[in-house]
Amino acid sequence: MDSARYVTDVPYARRFVRELSPAWLDFTALICGFQPPSREGGFAWCELGCGHGVTPALLAAAHPESRFHGIDLMPQHIDFAEKLCREADIANAQFHALDFAAAAKLDLPRFDMIVAHGVYTWIDAAAQADLIGFVDRHLKPGGLLYLSYDCLPGWAGDMPLQHLLQTLTAQGSGDSVARLDSADRIITALQGLGAEVLRLGAMGHEWEELRRRLPAGYFVHQFLPPAWKPIYVTELRSAVAGIGLAPIGSATIRENVDAFTLERPARELVAAAVDPDLRELLRDYLLMKRFRRDVFGRDVAPLDEAAARAQICGTTFMLAHPQDTSIPFNHPAAQAILALLEKGPAAAIALAAQGHAGDTLVSQIIALASAGRIWPVAAAADPGGIARINAVLRRRAGTADEIGFTLLPAGMAIEREER
Ligand SMILES: C[S@@+](CC[C@H](N)C(=O)[O-])C[C@H]1O[C@@H](n2cnc3c(N)ncnc32)[C@H](O)[C@@H]1O
Repeated sequence: MDSARYVTDVPYARRFVRELSPAWLDFTALICGFQPPSREGGFAWCELGCGHGVTPALLAAAHPESRFHGIDLMPQHIDFAEKLCREADIANAQFHALDFAAAAKLDLPRFDMIVAHGVYTWIDAAAQADLIGFVDRHLKPGGLLYLSYDCLPGWAGDMPLQHLLQTLTAQGSGDSVARLDSADRIITALQGLGAEVLRLGAMGHEWEELRRRLPAGYFVHQFLPPAWKPIYVTELRSAVAGIGLAPIGSATIRENVDAFTLERPARELVAAAVDPDLRELLRDYLLMKRFRRDVFGRDVAPLDEAAARAQICGTTFMLAHPQDTSIPFNHPAAQAILALLEKGPAAAIALAAQGHAGDTLVSQIIALASAGRIWPVAAAADPGGIARINAVLRRRAGTADEIGFTLLPAGMAIEREER
């Protein structure tokens, strides 16, 4: 792929994305009433546009029985990921410095899960088609696809800001950060002179504050890829339907339950729409959504309520870091779940013997997960692999190769300063 189609002169942030973990994707499928991919003989997982490969490397350390692949156009990202795995002696992750078109032709396993976080709306239509083509060729029946993307209508107010940034940086000189900085001087001056249109969106509204708080690389990768274009959920759904995949739900857990996000009249209006894609579009308008984490499935089996309930009660959770206690959870089952997890990761089924009914446990699990109080995590993760990668992460702290995360025993990583 021609690197002019993407910003390649500034490396992307190094981060672990928890919604990409197999346990999180399984839980998303379960609460939406679908059977997650089988774990027999391990699983195969692939990230498209994996950046520095932090998520696949850390997941591979925790799951040595499974296979991980990361694909990214930028050789410096792939070098970084390969070096990290070599240092931590991780043998079950492979990385490929290729674009999606070339990667689709690789001789790879068929995957149980394919994920692409923060990629789809930053690449042009041809690369989007290549990405979808890769999924078509490599996703197993019963497998899940995670695609996150910037969406409309939430970004509508920031489109004039983005257009001007692109125009100014295209005419600037120096690397992407230098061009961003000089464009920013004009944007800030225009805002100061009363160009209110540059403050219409959530990003423009807090522009100076966000520029101070976030690294320049974030703005470069957010705004400068020439193809960046937020899309409506209906557009993505129709592209994915073209390869026979169906929507499962959202990896932003609370978005699967209208009662947590919409008032009653809004819920009634949404429910009255017959077409499920239209219902989703209406939700996005009501919530002014700007980012979606959509999960799709290929011929994924639906679950009846009893089977879904049993699997949700058997799912392992940990307490989220940090604990946001702003929403009180007074229900005795919720308090019992939180008390159980205080002692370490566990499945709520352990509480059935205390007289908590399965239905109640499930509704409290979903409420707690929606509020960000608990995270679904691996039932078993490899302590040896986790210790090895943590030793590397500690050794790199304060160096140019720093990755600011720690991998916890449950196979979930948190930002180091959060501890
Ligand atoms: C915004 S970054 C996201 C990185 C990572 N998924 C994350 O969330 O940290 C997008 C990544 O996609 C890669 N990319 C863009 N176009 C690509 C293409 N056509 N083929 C392969 N990788 C591509 C870029 O190199 C970049 O690392």
